[in-house]
Amino acid sequence: MSIGGCDLNTFATRLNEVLTLSVPVRTPEKLFGRERQLEKIQLALHSPGRHVFIYGDRGVGKTSLAHTAASLVQSSDNRPITVSCDHDSTLESVIESAINQGQSRMQVDRFKTSATIGVNTAFVKAEARFDERDISPKRSIVNMAAAVEALNYLASNYSDNTVIVIDEFDLIRSDEQRARFGVLLKQLSDGDVSVRIIFTGIGQSVSDLIGGHLSSQRQIEQIDLERLHWTGRQCIVESAFEYFGLEIPSVISDRICALSDGFPYYVHLMCSKLLHECYMAGEVVTTVTRPLFMASLNAAVMSAEETLRSCYEMATWRDEHMHHILWAMAEGADLNRKKDHIIISYLQVMKLLSIEPLTQKTFDSRFARLRQENHGAILCHALVGKDGVRPGWYRFSENMIRGFVRMQAEKCGIILDFDRQYSAHTASIRTAAVKGVYNPLSSVERSVARLRRDDEKDGEENI
Ligand SMILES: Nc1ncnc2c1ncn2[C@@H]1O[C@H](COP(=O)(O)OP(=O)(O)OP(=O)(O)O)[C@@H](O)[C@H]1O
Ligand SMILES: [Mg+2]
Repeated sequence: MSIGGCDLNTFATRLNEVLTLSVPVRTPEKLFGRERQLEKIQLALHSPGRHVFIYGDRGVGKTSLAHTAASLVQSSDNRPITVSCDHDSTLESVIESAINQGQSRMQVDRFKTSATIGVNTAFVKAEARFDERDISPKRSIVNMAAAVEALNYLASNYSDNTVIVIDEFDLIRSDEQRARFGVLLKQLSDGDVSVRIIFTGIGQSVSDLIGGHLSSQRQIEQIDLERLHWTGRQCIVESAFEYFGLEIPSVISDRICALSDGFPYYVHLMCSKLLHECYMAGEVVTTVTRPLFMASLNAAVMSAEETLRSCYEMATWRDEHMHHILWAMAEGADLNRKKDHIIISYLQVMKLLSIEPLTQKTFDSRFARLRQENHGAILCHALVGKDGVRPGWYRFSENMIRGFVRMQAEKCGIILDFDRQYSAHTASIRTAAVKGVYNPLSSVERSVARLRRDDEKDGEENI
């Protein structure tokens, strides 16, 4: 059947079968490009006393990896338990939710015996309150010891191999509460409690999330989840278009992969909008075309996650020039960018638009505003260390925003180069080796850069 040959309901159902835009992936067949990480998690969770911590950027695919890994390690007699944290979560409240979820899923007969065991023995000693009048009693966990006991109870009664996913750990506001989970893992290991826990959290490191000294303990397998690599991105595109029997030219699929910046959400978003355009096209589509792609980009930007749209909107609604500065910021491969290099990108953008660039002074003042709250604080200083900020280096406040800015630029016909490495020579040499090409700055750009430095003296000339 051609893509346009079915009704809207059938199309929507098929689309959701192949693209999971708003829900995490749960099965290995749909989780692309994470084979290595899955293997690492499986190995870790088979080793007694070990748990996993998946950390990385927002939207990079942490929950999907956690759910998929959990489904592989959890024994088939029950489903993995999943708990999401919030700002006020405590160790007790999180474990309580896990236990209650486990209890509600346990078979009634199995539950009756096990609940009695739980009450008569360690549960009471551990000061856990337990309401026997209730058919499906809710356990109240009052301290760390009760949490350990409750998890022990779950391990022996829920399933042969019980996996708990503790998602969005970074949301817990209290440093103290987060650190207590490190202590819990140690106690689970000491007490030989055989539940397996997979944590996920937005962050640069586990030590940011649970505190320095606890993060390095041997109970934790750390998974630093990077943005999805090229092959993973391509697999998502290919599987979606193959499913609908459509040809997608490599220039278009490559562009989707590049614009996505390695965030699978964007790949799903662009693919689903493009498939929708193909579905709505007047004539039968067998091969995706550039006009369809451009129309789909427009739709993708319009229906992207609210947080991304509002951040971009706050930065740009007052002033047209802010778009250009942000597009310039999204060029190149480096996430941390030096202001000199951003200016080179900016000049290129303005050349493509045939618009006169801002003067140095006006550029500087607008650029500074992009770090302010009333502009969504869309940019921030990069390379911030213990000794303070390294001046002149900037980044998007969240890496995920860059993909959205790239889509905005492309939608307006500005084709940015995402491969160019502006930073240290070592980086350029590395790209040359990997890609077999080296993209030096053009002589025009070089002379502009030189000119710009001259301008720094009086600061009023065009940059
Ligand atoms: N490896 C992958 N292959 C295919 N799709 C993926 C992959 N990883 C994630 N996705 C998709 O990308 C989107 C975001 O994934 P997910 O929710 O797992 O990210 P996250 O890091 O948990 O995000 P957040 O930080 O917002 O919690 C989802 O739509 C999911 O279906
Ligand atoms: Mg998540």
